[in-house]
Amino acid sequence: MSTPDPLLIWRDEFPILADTTYMISHSLGPMPRRAEAALREFTNTWATRGIRAWEEGWWEMPITCGNLIGSIIGAPQGRVAMHQNVSICQSIVTSCFDWSGPRNKLVTDGLNFPSNDYIYHGLARQGAQIVSVASPDGMTIPLENILAAIDEQTQLVSISHVAFRSAYLQDLATITARAHEVGAYIVADLYQSAGIVPLDVVALDVDFATGGSVKWLLGGPGAGYLYVREDLDARLQPAATGWAAHAHPFEFVNGPIDYAPDMHRYLNGTPNVPAMYSARSGYEIVNEIGVAAIREKSQRQTQRLIALADEAGLTVRSPRDPAERGGTIILDVPNGREVTAELIRRKILVDFRPGAGIRIAPHFYTTDDEIAYTVHELASIVHPS
Ligand SMILES: Cc1ncc(COP(=O)(O)O)c(C=O)c1O
Repeated sequence: MSTPDPLLIWRDEFPILADTTYMISHSLGPMPRRAEAALREFTNTWATRGIRAWEEGWWEMPITCGNLIGSIIGAPQGRVAMHQNVSICQSIVTSCFDWSGPRNKLVTDGLNFPSNDYIYHGLARQGAQIVSVASPDGMTIPLENILAAIDEQTQLVSISHVAFRSAYLQDLATITARAHEVGAYIVADLYQSAGIVPLDVVALDVDFATGGSVKWLLGGPGAGYLYVREDLDARLQPAATGWAAHAHPFEFVNGPIDYAPDMHRYLNGTPNVPAMYSARSGYEIVNEIGVAAIREKSQRQTQRLIALADEAGLTVRSPRDPAERGGTIILDVPNGREVTAELIRRKILVDFRPGAGIRIAPHFYTTDDEIAYTVHELASIVHPS
């Protein structure tokens, strides 16, 4: 007899699990019940404390809320700042650099999220040379190809820790060491790894990390985060800025900014307070469970999903070695978009990405029966008897 799965006690915390097979936390995690109470706390605070709420917690929320993410990604307290989304965080990072000099290369991986690419290509008008290291199979990128692209002309290396298209997990430590060897900085996009793959930004030695809340961290939308290595503060002056980044914002001094000496220097304007209330509960839950336990279960269930897909004759488009992938399994079937629509009609929530396939993601609340049910229904749509 198999041992009971201790993580299943969390199922009741997520109302949507009662009537759907929720396999889509790589896209939008299910809402925790606690989030409703947190949003009520937001409106109560606004209603009863009014303007006083700023100094009673709201103003500092980008940092205090960021601390909850810090403990998931290994960042020291005070080193994660909340922003609206990854796109903004990436813009802040790239705005820290002068792209007009000889060190003007930005090396990015070909599996990076398109939004990041759009920001990087926008830097070309400032003189940046964008080098994208292609994925030969649309699923992985040979490490040596990335390492070879990083040279003395490189200013910034951008790596998606886990690729959104294939769940391929990149060797961040080796790439970071190479970037530092040539005097380049590195930004890691952790959106598809934080909360599902244990990681430690300090041990990895990355300079910057970005991510958001709505996937494995089970938060509401509008709450992205930025980590910056502490010793860089003295050197970095983000051009994408605002009054919250000033050393003394409430002095309201015009003219060039006098940056705050700490993580506040990467802020800009008024923080997205309700988004942080809506996202916080998910971080608390992930912290309570611990990413190591989540990863252990994820690796077991994704292996099982692959085995069932193989038995059903479905094509797997994620790395087969669990050590080389995050929490999603991509199955490439003919007419993937239509098959996805049919799965959703059957209340099996997954999504489809062109050039990749159907993305399926168990999380800590998933039962083994749901894995079997998902593959069974998918196979029955693809190969009707
Ligand atoms: C790896 C990765 N980075 C970035 C994004 C987009 O982030 P945002 O909408 O917060 O800018 C996504 C969203 O799917 C993603 O998967």
